[in-house]
Amino acid sequence: MDDKKFARITLDPDFQISTIDNRIYGSFIEHLGRAVYGGIYQPEHPSADAQGFRQDVLDLVREINVPIVRYPGGNFVSNFFWEDSVGPVEERPRRLDLAWRSTEPNLIGVNEFAQWAKLANTDIMMAVNLGTRGIDAACNLLEYCNHPSGSQYADLRVSHGVAEPYKIKTWCLGNEMDGPWQVGHKTAWEYGRLADETAKAMRQIDPEIQLVACGSSNTGMASYPQWEATVLEEAYNSVDYISLHTYYGNRINDTANFLAQSDDMDRFIKTVISTCDFVKAKKRAKKDIMLSFDEWNVWFHSDAADNDTMSNRPWAIAPHLLEDRYNFEDALLVGLMLITLIRHSDRVRMACLAQLVNVIAPIMTEENGPAWRQTIFYPYLHASRYGRGIALNTAQRASRHDTKEFTDVTDVESTAVWNPDTQELTVFAVNRNLDFDITLESDLRGFPGYTLTQHIVLEHEDFKAANSPNSQAVSPKTANDRDEQNGAILNSRLAAASWNVLRLKKA
Ligand code: AHR
Repeated sequence: MDDKKFARITLDPDFQISTIDNRIYGSFIEHLGRAVYGGIYQPEHPSADAQGFRQDVLDLVREINVPIVRYPGGNFVSNFFWEDSVGPVEERPRRLDLAWRSTEPNLIGVNEFAQWAKLANTDIMMAVNLGTRGIDAACNLLEYCNHPSGSQYADLRVSHGVAEPYKIKTWCLGNEMDGPWQVGHKTAWEYGRLADETAKAMRQIDPEIQLVACGSSNTGMASYPQWEATVLEEAYNSVDYISLHTYYGNRINDTANFLAQSDDMDRFIKTVISTCDFVKAKKRAKKDIMLSFDEWNVWFHSDAADNDTMSNRPWAIAPHLLEDRYNFEDALLVGLMLITLIRHSDRVRMACLAQLVNVIAPIMTEENGPAWRQTIFYPYLHASRYGRGIALNTAQRASRHDTKEFTDVTDVESTAVWNPDTQELTVFAVNRNLDFDITLESDLRGFPGYTLTQHIVLEHEDFKAANSPNSQAVSPKTANDRDEQNGAILNSRLAAASWNVLRLKKA
C-alpha cells in the first residue's frame, strides 16, 4: 500500500449514465481461420450435433450469454458472394477469399449460421459486401433474409426450407472501407455516397432495420476522424450507427503502458461522438448517431505467424490464423476496455468483442480435444453476466501515474451497474498500478441496505501467464478478506494489477 494512492467512487441511483443496451456484450464470427470450420462447426468432432455444430463450443458461448454476433466479416465480407453460401451444399462453389488468402468451401452459409445463432441464443448483426459488390447484392441478401415471400429472393429462401423470414434487425454497410487492405477500399466520399444509397434502398425493403456505417478502422488511420465527418455528411439521415474498431498490443513489452491503452479507446469514443454531433449540428438534424464498437480486443501475438501463413502457404481451408494465445495482462486490458464501453453506454449501443472462437477469441478449440477458455473469457463473462442494467455515473476520483506513451493515467479504473429488477449493484474495477494494492472506497449512501455478496478477483503473479486446453492457470476466484463495510462506506482492497467484480445486493 502507498498512502498517496487512492480511489473513490460514489454510488447513487439518481446519477445515471444510461440503461445499457445489452448488445454492448456482443461478439463476432468471421469466415476467417478456424472460427467457422474447426470452431463452431466440426462435424467429425465427438461433441458435434447432427448439423455438425460443436456442442462444447455452444456451451461456452451460452455461458457468456452473447446477445448479438456480427457475421460473416470483417474483411471477408468485402469479397463475399452470399449466393454461394445458400442452397444445396453439394452445389455450392469454393471461392478464393482474398482478404485472408484462404479457400472458402461454403459449407456454412447464411442459413446454417442462422441455425447456429438460434442454438447460441444470439441475434445476428449481418454485414453486406460494399467492397466488390453494391446496392443490388445488399438488397437481395436483405430480401432473402427478411422478406416474407412472393419475390425472387424471399422465395429462394423458402425453397431452401426456411419458410419464415429471419427478421435480422442490424445490418453493417460494409467493413473498414477506409482501409487500403480492404478489397474495394474507397475514399470517404465514395463510401459515404454508396452507404447512403444502399441504406435508402435497403430501407425500402425493410423499414425496421438498423444500419451501421463504417467509421475508421482505428485512430492511427491518416483519414481519422475526417473520415467519420465526410461519411456522415453524406449518409447522416439514412444510417443509425457509425462503427469503431480498435485492437491493442503490448508490442514494446511494457505492461503499464499496455494497460493505459484503454485511455486511447476512451478518447476515440469521445472524438467520434463529437464528430457525429458536429455533423448533426451542421445538418440541423434531430436524431443522434449512435456508436457501434463492433470490433475491439487485443490482437498482436499472432502477427508473425499470420504473415508467414498468408505469404507462404496461401489458399488453405481454415488455416490457423489470428490464433492469439492470451495472457493475464491481456485479460486486464480487456477488462479496462469493457469498463470504458460501459461508461459510454449512453452512446455506445452495440459492441463486439472480436472475435468469439479461435480467431483472436475468448474460446479456443482443439481439433481432437476440448473447447477451452482463454484468459480474456473471464472479464467478458463477468461484464455480460453482471453488467446488465443501468450504468451509473460514479464520479470516480483516483490517483494517477504516467507511462511511456500516456500521462495522467488513473491507477484504478472502475464503473458501476445497477439492476433495479434484481436489486443488484456491481462495481467493475481494475487496479492498473503494477506496484501497489489500492483501496477502493465506495460511498453507498445512495443505496441503503446494500451489502457486498461477492468480491471476484482475477490476478496472477506472472503477467504472461496463459491458459491452455489442460490448464486454467488464469481464472477468477472469490476473495474473502479484502472488503470492509462501515455503515455506508465499503473499502475494498484491489490487489496491484487485478480485475475485480464487487457484487452487492439489497439485504
Ligand atoms: O477481426 C479481424 C479483422 O480485423 C477483421 O476482419 C477486420 O475488419 C479487422 O481489420
